[in-house]
This record gives sequence, C-alpha cells and structure tokens, in this order.
Amino acid sequence: MIVAYSSFIKNQLLIDGEWCLSADEKTFAVVNPATGEPIAQVANATPADATRAIDAAVRAQITWAEKAANERSRLLRCWFDLVMQNQEALAQLLTLEQGKPLAEARAEIAYGASYIEWFAEEAKRIYGDVIPPLANNQRIHVIKQPVGVVAAITPWNFPCAMLARKLAPALAAGCAVVAKPAAETPLSALALAQLALEAGIPAGVINILPSAHAQAIGVEFTTNTHVRKLSFTGSTAVGKTLIAQCAPGVKRITLELGGNAPFIVFDDADLDAAVAGAIAAKFRNAGQTCVCANRFYIHQSVYDLFCQKLTAGMQALKLGNGFDDEVTVGPLISLRAKEKVQGFVDDAVRRGARIAFQTPIQNSFQAHPAGHGAQDNFFAPTVLVDVTQDARLACEEIFGPVIGLIPFATEVQAIQLANASDYGLAAYFYTRDTNRIKRLCDQLQTGMVGVNTGLISNAAAPFGGIKQSGWGREGSRYGLDDYLDIKYLCETFS
Ligand code: SIN
Repeated sequence: MIVAYSSFIKNQLLIDGEWCLSADEKTFAVVNPATGEPIAQVANATPADATRAIDAAVRAQITWAEKAANERSRLLRCWFDLVMQNQEALAQLLTLEQGKPLAEARAEIAYGASYIEWFAEEAKRIYGDVIPPLANNQRIHVIKQPVGVVAAITPWNFPCAMLARKLAPALAAGCAVVAKPAAETPLSALALAQLALEAGIPAGVINILPSAHAQAIGVEFTTNTHVRKLSFTGSTAVGKTLIAQCAPGVKRITLELGGNAPFIVFDDADLDAAVAGAIAAKFRNAGQTCVCANRFYIHQSVYDLFCQKLTAGMQALKLGNGFDDEVTVGPLISLRAKEKVQGFVDDAVRRGARIAFQTPIQNSFQAHPAGHGAQDNFFAPTVLVDVTQDARLACEEIFGPVIGLIPFATEVQAIQLANASDYGLAAYFYTRDTNRIKRLCDQLQTGMVGVNTGLISNAAAPFGGIKQSGWGREGSRYGLDDYLDIKYLCETFS
C-alpha cells in the first residue's frame, strides 16, 4: 500500500482559519484501535478555546451569510472535488484512527463527500414563498435565513460522514460552525477542515475543536448565547443531557441518537437476499452504526433455514486489521466497547440463548508484532439462536457484530415486537407480499424503513428517527430546514 495520509495528519485546533494550540497547551493521544499504537498527540481544546472559536464563528457568519447562494454553492462544490481527489489518503487516515476496513473507509469518504455535493446544489434552492393575503392591501412574503452559529458534536463511528452531513447543510444555509469531533477520531475532521480551507471557504466559517473534555465543551456549546443551534450525533443518554442544557436558552437542536433496528424476515421472503441484507445491515463498521440491524425476527417456518444460510454467508467475513487485504470486519473502537458487547452475549446466554456461529479469529492479529495488546479490541462476528425478547441485546443498542435470532409466528406479532422499543430510528423487513409491504410501511414506528434492503443511507434521503432516536432530519432537501429560520414579511399598502 502506498501511504498517502501523512500530509493530512493535523494535530492542532482550527480556530478562525489558524491552526493553534489549546489555551492550556495540553494534548491527548489518538490511538489505532487495531494495534493499540499511538498515532498522534492532538491539542486538547478547553472551554476557553470553544468560546474563542464561537466568537470567530460569529464574525465569520456575517460575511458568509451575505455571500450570494451561488458563491457558497461554488465553494462547497470545490471542497467536494478536493475531498474526492484525496479520497485514498482520507480513507487511510480514517482506517488508521477508526479501524474500519479500507474499502469501507473509501466508501465513507465518498458518502461524506456526497453530502457536500448534495448541499452545494441545495444552497441554490433555498426558496421562500409568496402567500395570498386575507386583505387586498397586503402582501405576505416568506423568506428563509440562516439560524446563525451552529455547534456540532460528532461521533467516532463515521468521523468523516457525520461531520460532512452537518457542515454541508449548515454552510449551504449561510451558517458558520464550531465542531467538536469525537476524541477517538479527530484526525479525519481536521483533514476535512484543511481541505475546506484549501477550497477557499473563509476563515472562521469552520472551526474544529478536538477535545477530551467532552462534557465541558458541551456545556459551552449549549449555554453560550451566540450559538443558535446545536446538532448532535451520539447516544440517547447524552442527547437528553444536551436537551436539558439547551432548554434555558431555547436553543434549536437536531439530534441523531441511538437505534435498535428490527430486521424482520417473513416466510415468503427471498431468503438469500435477506441473508445478504442482514450481513450488510449488521456488519458495516463491525456493527458500530446507529442504523445497524439490532434485533432479528425470523418467521418460525424459515427460522432454521435462515440461520443455516446466514452462518454459511458469514463464512466469507474476515476479521482483522482494516489495512489487511480482504478484511471485512475491523476492531471495535475500544476495549470498553468490546467488554460491553461481550456483556450482551453473556446476558443472552444466561437467558437461554445459544451461540450458533462465531467467525474464526485470524492469526494475523492474534499475535500482532506491535505488542500493544493488538487483538484486544476485536470481537468475532457472532450468531445467537433462541434469543428471548427480554435479553439486553434485544432491548439495547449493541454496537457490535452480534446477531440474535428471535422466532415469530404472525405478522401482527412481528409488528408488535418491532415497535416494542423506545427507539425509532430504522427498521428493515423482507417479504414478497405487496400488501404486507404497505401494512408494514404504515405501521412500523421508525423514521426510516428498508424494504427488501439492508442499506438505506444516502445523501438524497432524510436520515433521522422518531421516539428516543432523535429530532430533525439530516441529508435530503429536508436537511436544510434545520439550519434555517422562517421569516414572514407583512407588507401593507394604502
Ligand atoms: C450513524 O451510525 O449514525 C450513521 C450511519 C449512516 O449514516 O448510515
């Protein structure tokens, strides 16, 4: 492999177009989750740095919002081009700090870039309205304006795409952004911002604050009155805290929170397609994806056959370092994450479930020469049968490569089981019955539904959940609304 990422390793904060140290000059380590080896020491932003970045964003926002939509669009398009020209380097950096296989990292760079491209176009289509008035001497206009400075908090599972999905619509709308990437994966965010500067996006419009002080930065983002909107992707628990912190200032919020997606296979389904969909929906990013299939409900008459075909299909999975050829499942992000997933499996087994299959562990990382506890974060893709509905892995987000199969008898029961969750992000089902498709699309209580497919994410579609999975939508034409205020103008004539 030709190493292309070196010039993209930035380890400082980006505030007002300048790379800088944190106020206290402290740093934190970013570590490769596949090997345990340190990659970089990165400046550790403090709340004082966040305040400085917000002030810079306030200044930059005024001139950014005044630019013609066409100009904002052109700069976003330029940024998209640069990201795609550097796809390989950015993908390597992503695999290095996040662990996902290189092929998936390349796909994530293209996926993230597709949001920049999409919103470069949408920037030109922020239409207002003219409304017929109730009186002849009046004219009612509706215009849309940027909400102002946006604070963004992004997760480690898609460090490029989740940031791009927030930055692109914010910039298209005319907002400036202060962003805190996850402490595990700040390098992709810094690289993305470097390319934005090269594309000509003005200083202060994008500010990046890597930090291990997540809570303190969150407090500054939510309580600083200059921040007009918060966009967060992460856990429901943290989302609830942020809602509470935003409440006194009545700050607008977009939340993309946890999920617990049901994956339902009916007796009339194309089982081979369902198996392919299950593998795609479950093992993307080693199961560390909010829209990952989390609970598998299989009709009792095809339960054994589905399990047989699934375990056969999983023989092709290869667990290992994302840089190794043919690896399809990388490490989990940390040892803590691995222990949590193991806890779900142990709990299910205690309740009567049985491990039907586990991907063999490859020698390549069993005895990694680096000797930094190399294999520690790897979790072998696992299938459990006879899982009960009260098992933790059916009730909570697993965030790991574990499939628990639960049989069901009727369509009504499947819908009830699927909806019996506080989460409502995504759901998937496989059937050939067109009437059943309509019934399920109507009745499933989630923001997104995959019908005979396990992959649903793309820039043209509104991504988001209901219930405790979040507020608002990202991507698509709806994704701009969260960054815009509606202003009604009432003109009266004599
Ligand atoms: C997520 O896990 O939060 C996002 C995944 C996606 O965009 O498909």
